[in-house]
Amino acid sequence: MTDIKALEQEIRTAIEAATDEASLDAVRVGAIGKKGSVSALMKTLGKMSPEERQQNGPLFNSLRDGIATAVSAKKDALHNAALDARLASEKVDVTLPTRPLPQGSIHPITQVTDEIIAIFADMGFAVAEGPDIETDFYNFTALNFPEGHPAREMHDTFYMTPDEEGAKKVLRTHTSPVQIRTMMAAEPPHRVIIPGRTYRCDSDQTHTPMFHQVEGLAVDKSTNMGELKWVLEQFCKAFFEVEAVEMKFRPSYFPFTEPSMEVDIRCDHSGGELKIGEGDDWMEILGCGMVHPNVLRNVNLDPDIYQGWAFGMGIDRLAMLKYGIPDLRDFFAADLRWLRHYGFSALDMPNLATGLSR
Ligand code: PHE
Repeated sequence: MTDIKALEQEIRTAIEAATDEASLDAVRVGAIGKKGSVSALMKTLGKMSPEERQQNGPLFNSLRDGIATAVSAKKDALHNAALDARLASEKVDVTLPTRPLPQGSIHPITQVTDEIIAIFADMGFAVAEGPDIETDFYNFTALNFPEGHPAREMHDTFYMTPDEEGAKKVLRTHTSPVQIRTMMAAEPPHRVIIPGRTYRCDSDQTHTPMFHQVEGLAVDKSTNMGELKWVLEQFCKAFFEVEAVEMKFRPSYFPFTEPSMEVDIRCDHSGGELKIGEGDDWMEILGCGMVHPNVLRNVNLDPDIYQGWAFGMGIDRLAMLKYGIPDLRDFFAADLRWLRHYGFSALDMPNLATGLSR
């Protein structure tokens, strides 16, 4: 006769020793499966006398039930242990800093604007701003464009629908209206640059309806054209990161400056690569001049006491020149491949100490 206690002990030891669900299942089959040791014991009941059966039946049953319970408890324990191990191995420390995966980039126009601001800030200029939607007064009249004057036709202006009084606001055609706002807001001296968006109804490979300008304005009792030329020369050398830039000041016309000039810089187009400061080509980069006495009068400054100079240049054009970007329209196409190629790292903040573009 099988020693029930010994058999139970043996099976329970095997259950305890199982290290995974597969080996536990092998123990279960070997004990209470169809051909298992406990099942074999159960079969012996049939051949027993009624008295023996009455005595052994409950014993065998409780043996089988006890083993089944032990197996299922062990199964739960193994399952929990496996889950704990998996959770431990997949643990994430949410307090760790994010990995420096470069996502997104700084648009070349933003980068170049920051470079321009860094250069002029170093020369003592503050940044001024104004609205994109302007009144006719700030965009034209105060800048000495008389009503009906043909100079207004020079700008392909976007007009807004007229208000109750019939006045049409405009999308500013240049950053010059902020000259007026600056001079009306405070007493001289003024020394500001004004970067911002500007709009003209024009679109081809070198024009987009929205583009960017940076305006410069200096007003004081002693400002003069020599200072204007010096500031622009310092700017070009710093911006293009070259030792010297030869500049040509050509006479020109703007209603709000007198005299007015356009400035070309010497450059080299040969060999497919653009080099600034050498070669035989000239490229126009800005318009400038001494603030017209009428403009000073329009903001209540006495032209016999104060004089000023101003310039305006296209930021998009400067960005194209410096970073070899061939088509202006790509700036505004929002093509991710283009942005990844020409964009700048968010941590690459322009400053004069470490070099603007390094
Ligand atoms: N506002 C002029 C333009 O958009 C540029 C300019 C600014 C010229 C300041 C002279 C002085 O063309």
